[in-house]
Amino acid sequence: MLTNDMISKDVKLSPQQISASIDFPVRSLNLSFSDEIPEFWFANNAFLTSFLAALSSAFPDGERQFIHSVRNYQSQIDDPVLLKQVRAFIGQEAHHGKEHDQLNDLMRKRGYPIDRIYKRFKKMNKMMQQTFSPAHQLASTVCMEHLTAIMADYFISKNTQDLDKFNIGLRKIWAWHAIEETEHKAVAFDVYQSLVNRPYFLRLVMLETTLFFVFITSRGTLELLKHSGQRKNLKNWSEGLRFLFGRNGLVRQISQDYFDFFALGFHPWQHDNRVTAEQLKRKYQII
Ligand SMILES: [Fe+2]
Ligand SMILES: [Fe+2]
Repeated sequence: MLTNDMISKDVKLSPQQISASIDFPVRSLNLSFSDEIPEFWFANNAFLTSFLAALSSAFPDGERQFIHSVRNYQSQIDDPVLLKQVRAFIGQEAHHGKEHDQLNDLMRKRGYPIDRIYKRFKKMNKMMQQTFSPAHQLASTVCMEHLTAIMADYFISKNTQDLDKFNIGLRKIWAWHAIEETEHKAVAFDVYQSLVNRPYFLRLVMLETTLFFVFITSRGTLELLKHSGQRKNLKNWSEGLRFLFGRNGLVRQISQDYFDFFALGFHPWQHDNRVTAEQLKRKYQII
């Protein structure tokens, strides 16, 4: 395990050197979620729980597509370090899908329309695989990995205390997912840089991916919120919108990191959050 001292000695490393130094394992958590977990398991708020559950419902099939897009290039990777990271990336994403399936089951048991979201993602993956070139699919993964990494960093570095808004039975899955999204945040990017390297195309795909992400997440959130029976609860909405768009909210906190992606020299490890990620690993005993 890295110590803060070991990391601070690396201060002069470039983002690319940090990326090459990252060695991360595939962890299997085998979590299960008790029926005692309250229905509104984030901040006791139906809107925000629906938002996070919409993300969770998208993960299993979304992550299968990430794996598919990187596998398309796996045989062309010569660098043994990157190849090892690609294998670990595939292992981590496969486990995320498996663990989130358990959480999604909990929502399904409570009647939430999880299967509708699953089916939509299956259809979308099929469409992407049939109509997008391998380079376009990989670029979409790079962009989604950036979005997940900066959202993960919200809980790792920006507003760490917000992890405590999850019900205690669900904190570990979200902390673990956030940590692993950080560990492998540059893998798809490094594959793209070494084998596709079309920087302007990548930035265009980021715009496409962002629009698509906002649309699909909003749609999922509204569908789940409708089932909760809290769609007309204004207090819920105002708390939720404040969490997302308020002065200290998620969107404002991650916006600079989001826009950094559009600079041509960008690399995910220029946002070096190794120290805070290590602190969270220790807190949740994620080894
Ligand atoms: Fe993931
Ligand atoms: Fe990921």
